[in-house]
Amino acid sequence: MEVVKDHPDLPAAHRFPLPNGNLNTLLPHIVRRFSPLSETASLDAQVLAAKLLGVPRSWLLAHPEARLTDRQQQALALAVQRVEAGEALPYVLGTWEFFGLEFTVTPEVLIPRPETELLVEQALLWLKDHPNRRRIADIGTGSGCIAVTLAVKIPELLVTAGDISAAALEVARKNAELHGVARRVRFVRSDLLAQFGPEEPPPAGRVFDLLCANLPYIPSRTLTALEVSRKEPYLALDGGQDGLVLVKRLFSQLKAQPGWMADGGRILLEVEAGQGAAARSLARRLFPRAEIQVLPDLAGRDRLLMIDLPDRE
Ligand SMILES: C[S@@+](CC[C@H](N)C(=O)[O-])C[C@H]1O[C@@H](n2cnc3c(N)ncnc32)[C@H](O)[C@@H]1O
Repeated sequence: MEVVKDHPDLPAAHRFPLPNGNLNTLLPHIVRRFSPLSETASLDAQVLAAKLLGVPRSWLLAHPEARLTDRQQQALALAVQRVEAGEALPYVLGTWEFFGLEFTVTPEVLIPRPETELLVEQALLWLKDHPNRRRIADIGTGSGCIAVTLAVKIPELLVTAGDISAAALEVARKNAELHGVARRVRFVRSDLLAQFGPEEPPPAGRVFDLLCANLPYIPSRTLTALEVSRKEPYLALDGGQDGLVLVKRLFSQLKAQPGWMADGGRILLEVEAGQGAAARSLARRLFPRAEIQVLPDLAGRDRLLMIDLPDRE
């Protein structure tokens, strides 16, 4: 397991041991150490200990008397130190949960976020309502969390998943294999749709019924001040001057080749809170006859641009 390995970047001086004891003492100790770093210190401590012990989180809570072996104790101490040294917990764990499925994550990919589950939920609702629509694209696939989850949930789905990062595509491919859907997901290294060209058609033709994208959308100037820019790949976060640069480029590509989208198809784009109105008006210019909505996330913030194309644009 990733967390058991020693980590070369950790100075020995940072290696504060954990107290010897049972979970009842260890977990609160870790929570105290994580508290200055995370708003979810308690959950983080439980997720880390559960992964390391190879048990569900509920087991930890039901067995406060359990003691760790020396090796487990050492591995847990090292993992805690990596988090304290600034690594994101999912990268330390090497996996993260999205939509109830476990995904491999490395520092080359964005950590899948719960907000993105809204896009997946809406995609699933639409696919269930449209049983003959089974060709989809996922642009900026990263870990593959959207593409792979949809392929797992809809057994006949044919997915083309693109990313400009070769390293991210490797991780996405691994996740597709892990979840047994690699045969139905084609991975393309591409600048948005540019290299999806006619010479490389998706498995079932060149037209997508559904296009999903969670593109980088943090405005460049905001991003440099955010801690996330030091933990996760810049390429996955930087949305250019107004945060919508990639969305505008994707829209220009779709305009240049309207044949990418099937009549009556759907486009789902995750947006940043506050970008809803701007994204909607960009979409309106490109698809004047489409039905366009911006859906909020659970916190009530703009999160998802939904474009339902007319049967014939
Ligand atoms: C916000 S992350 C989303 C990752 C994943 N889909 C998710 O929801 O967790 C954006 C992804 O877009 C990719 N990306 C950035 N610029 C791109 C481009 N011009 N063309 C294709 N992908 C791009 C990044 O490498 C990154 O994997």
